[in-house]
Amino acid sequence: MLETLTPAQPDPILSLTIDFRQDPRENKLDLGIGVYRNSRGETPIMEAVKAAQTALAETQTTKSYVGLAGNEGFNQAMTSLLLEGTDGYSRVSTIQTPGASGALRMLADLMRVANHNTTVWISDPSYVNHRPVMEAAGLKVRHYPYFNRETKLVDLNAMLDSLSSAGKDDVVLLHGCCHNPTGADIPFEAWKRVGELAAKNGFTPFVDIAYQGFGEGLDADAKGLRYLADNLEEVLVATSCSKSFGLYRERTGAAMVIGASSERAQNAKGKLLNLARSTYTMPPDHGAAIVEMILSDAGLRKSWETEIAAMNQRIVTLRQGLATALRERVGDGRFDFIQQHKGMFSVVGFSPELVKRLKDDHAIYAVGDSRINIAGLSEARIDYLADAMVAVSDK
Ligand code: LMR
Repeated sequence: MLETLTPAQPDPILSLTIDFRQDPRENKLDLGIGVYRNSRGETPIMEAVKAAQTALAETQTTKSYVGLAGNEGFNQAMTSLLLEGTDGYSRVSTIQTPGASGALRMLADLMRVANHNTTVWISDPSYVNHRPVMEAAGLKVRHYPYFNRETKLVDLNAMLDSLSSAGKDDVVLLHGCCHNPTGADIPFEAWKRVGELAAKNGFTPFVDIAYQGFGEGLDADAKGLRYLADNLEEVLVATSCSKSFGLYRERTGAAMVIGASSERAQNAKGKLLNLARSTYTMPPDHGAAIVEMILSDAGLRKSWETEIAAMNQRIVTLRQGLATALRERVGDGRFDFIQQHKGMFSVVGFSPELVKRLKDDHAIYAVGDSRINIAGLSEARIDYLADAMVAVSDK
């Protein structure tokens, strides 16, 4: 049987991490995978997470099964964090999933069960795992124009023009904030336009929000999603605690379904639970138990909000520092878009050849589409990165 298999393609992001670990050069710089690092290059456990897991270790009395939907306290807390105050909040159902990739897959499976003709529209470019997850679920995938490679900003006219032909068998996947990979977000006005198109033409928005708190703040980053939740009958949501709680390896995320009525949302939840049972049965508990504790304890919540705001501010400062260093070197504002981008990532517009030179000549690891993880940079390495970017693009 196994002789039919050929070597698999390595994952474009995860394989970089392996290459980086094996690189013996001392000056190496990992701007590949999306993890936050502090000025010492560490990805620390957040203070609130540390406190919650210590408390859990002392108070938890069992490791028995939780249930197909995972931790319902976590589900409620995450739903409130994203949707409280919206009309959709009264007609949403949520399940805990193994990370946001688990949520993407469960929601993709749900779409396929609900309508086997579903086509998912994905931004060009998008998170490298979006297309594989949708296709693995048997869905058709189309791209809508998104990133203007000249300006390095969103081409709103092209995006909205393209989405105006999406219809009732279509689902439009949007990044809630901090677009991965580009860093270029749509303004609030564009969320309204997408909502109007969805209401008029009948497509369903599917919001992947994995970086809440890393753009303009916890509430501002959810504003577009909340507009859709207020104004549309159906919205799908995949969310993650990997970045915003720093729980990467705990695989903690959630899938939410807003339906026209709470009954429809509950039907969707029932189907999601069937799908979870036949896929992984139930999600791991530890991360969700931590998040539930943080979000329901005023002191821990305050500590978490303060820390995520500080991380966000540090990314903004790194963006400013890098844009300034590049302006000084090239003598113009061609890299100023780095300051306008939001969240961890920026696509800087280099060809795969230049990305390879960054790695080969300077030990700087970026994803092949020239996505750099600004949150992986440190203040001390800004000049090194700016020099290398100029050196490779001048060659
Ligand atoms: C990334 O885009 O680097 C992260 O979301 C990690 C992943 O799962 O790909």
